[in-house]
Amino acid sequence: MAKKRVAILISGRGSNMAALIAAAKDPAYPAEIVLVASNQADAAGLERATAAGIPTAIVDHTRFGKDREAFERALHSVLDEHRIDLVCLAGFMRLLTPWLVSRWQGRMLNIHPALLPAFKGLDTHERALAAGVKIHGASVHFVVPEMDSGPIIAQAAVPVQDDDTPEKLAERVLAVEHRIYPLALALVARGDVSLVDGRCRIAGAQPMPAALVVPEIKR
Ligand code: GRF
Repeated sequence: MAKKRVAILISGRGSNMAALIAAAKDPAYPAEIVLVASNQADAAGLERATAAGIPTAIVDHTRFGKDREAFERALHSVLDEHRIDLVCLAGFMRLLTPWLVSRWQGRMLNIHPALLPAFKGLDTHERALAAGVKIHGASVHFVVPEMDSGPIIAQAAVPVQDDDTPEKLAERVLAVEHRIYPLALALVARGDVSLVDGRCRIAGAQPMPAALVVPEIKR
């Protein structure tokens, strides 16, 4: 089967982008990263993409003022030019309108640093600590017009420690983000994800190990 052509959209440092690029180096990986695009000309991830030999594009949203759809039309035509099959949002800090989202329905993924539907939006680690949850994590989902919503493809759970700070927790969540994004993209690219009643069913998923219980007490 031909590899799916993937664009990654970033606005910042691009560590998830780098994880996807690294995974896609495996000849057996079912997708190739053919474009990294950013709305921020100074996104640090652009340099990392160039260093990895991936073509980059900048679509500066400020050129379009308040006209979100005009920005999206410009972005969409860049994606079209590169014959993109799948789009991965990876720290892409623009809210997308139904105009673009509907064109990429079922073909656009996002990663969010929380166990959705908990803690949508920004500052998820601060909010998880403030809420006192014992288990936090990350989610990869299909993009729908509503922010940080849409069918969940993969999640990873991270135990919260009593002495956690937002920074410490963010670091451990980021480590699992870098595992589940390449996993989720591979599943979608292989056609192993199907939507049943609004939920993602994953072909080949194995029976789960024992439950994660937090706290674990050894006496
Ligand atoms: C990640 O935490 C991701 O989940 C969120 O934005 C952050 C981007 O980080 N959507 P990076 O640019 O991938 O390092």
